[in-house]
Amino acid sequence: MRHSTIIGTGFYVPPQVVTNDDLSKLMDTSDAWIQERTGIKQRHMVEDGIGSADLAKIAAERALADAGLTAADIDLIIFATLSPDFFFPGSACILQKKMPGFGTIPALDIRQQCTGFVYAVAIADSFIRVGAYSKILVIGAEVHSVGLDYTTRGRDVAVLFGDGAGAVIMAPTENEAEGILGFALHAEGENYDKLWVPAPYGNIRGRVNQEMIERGELFPKMDGRAVFRHAVPRFCECINEVLGKTGRKIEEVDLFIPHQANDRITHAVAERMGLPNEKVVSNIARYANTTAATIPICIHESRQDGRLKKGSLLLCAAFGSGFTWASVLMRWTV
Ligand code: ACO
Repeated sequence: MRHSTIIGTGFYVPPQVVTNDDLSKLMDTSDAWIQERTGIKQRHMVEDGIGSADLAKIAAERALADAGLTAADIDLIIFATLSPDFFFPGSACILQKKMPGFGTIPALDIRQQCTGFVYAVAIADSFIRVGAYSKILVIGAEVHSVGLDYTTRGRDVAVLFGDGAGAVIMAPTENEAEGILGFALHAEGENYDKLWVPAPYGNIRGRVNQEMIERGELFPKMDGRAVFRHAVPRFCECINEVLGKTGRKIEEVDLFIPHQANDRITHAVAERMGLPNEKVVSNIARYANTTAATIPICIHESRQDGRLKKGSLLLCAAFGSGFTWASVLMRWTV
């Protein structure tokens, strides 16, 4: 039966590296606090004037080249981001402006935060299964650094995030044994305000006012303990769900790429699932949390370092703002 597989990958992070020590000059924090709590050592940050569609463009060009395609071969763009260039239109349209080779193909933004890439892969797979589209560019791209509070007030959130973009090209396959084998998607809006940006607010004239600015509501707010408490069981639930749906066992998984929120969450999930360290990917030390870009960056790096190869059973899972959580299981083909 027609379904989809990934035929090309690419990523891009801006060149500027900001270490934990650099942040400790801006706020009351330390390298030891950040590393111990999260595993993060550094993150990449854009220069002023660079938006998520700019990072996406380079990642997309690299993924297209890897697949041996050009923009003209693509018939749908799906762009996952929580840090779009504009309130509207979506960043997929901005990317289209920057890459005219896409012509007038549909351009879709999705707002699934840390699970954005997994949701986007599931959407792309479904479009390909029904025959609506054949070659889909799936992107996760984020510019967090322009919207974080780098003072002591915002230190609980600001130290966690970095900028970056990852992209994959998805295409049809008829081979049942390869490509996307299954996915599980969930959301629980009840917890929307455990990890969120309160402003701009859609119900206030002007969308933002002086008091909101002074209260720092343009910056993300997080109940870190609530996120941690929900993340570990939700990761495990959606992993078990996708394994159940596809009739696979956890021991068969060759590589596990979790969303890189926090190394402590990753370790707790791996331990609960019985996944040995050598099967678990972590790059949070170098990039911090790049939200929708995290998983495609990990996928590309895992190919480069040889951990992900043709035939590998790859499990990806994520949890994040919304709350949303999701998993996808695939047999790697390139
Ligand atoms: N540097 C130094 N001290 C800090 C910092 C910082 N950057 N941030 C907070 N602190 C202080 C707090 O103010 C608090 O001080 P107090 O005891 O005087 O009040 C103290 O450190 C402890 O704060 P806690 O919030 O209790 O710290 P905790 O041990 O819970 O760690 C963390 C915080 C890392 C956010 C943790 O809750 C966590 O891992 N949560 C999961 C959330 C997460 O990883 N989110 C990532 C993005 S979401 C996603 O992608 C799913």
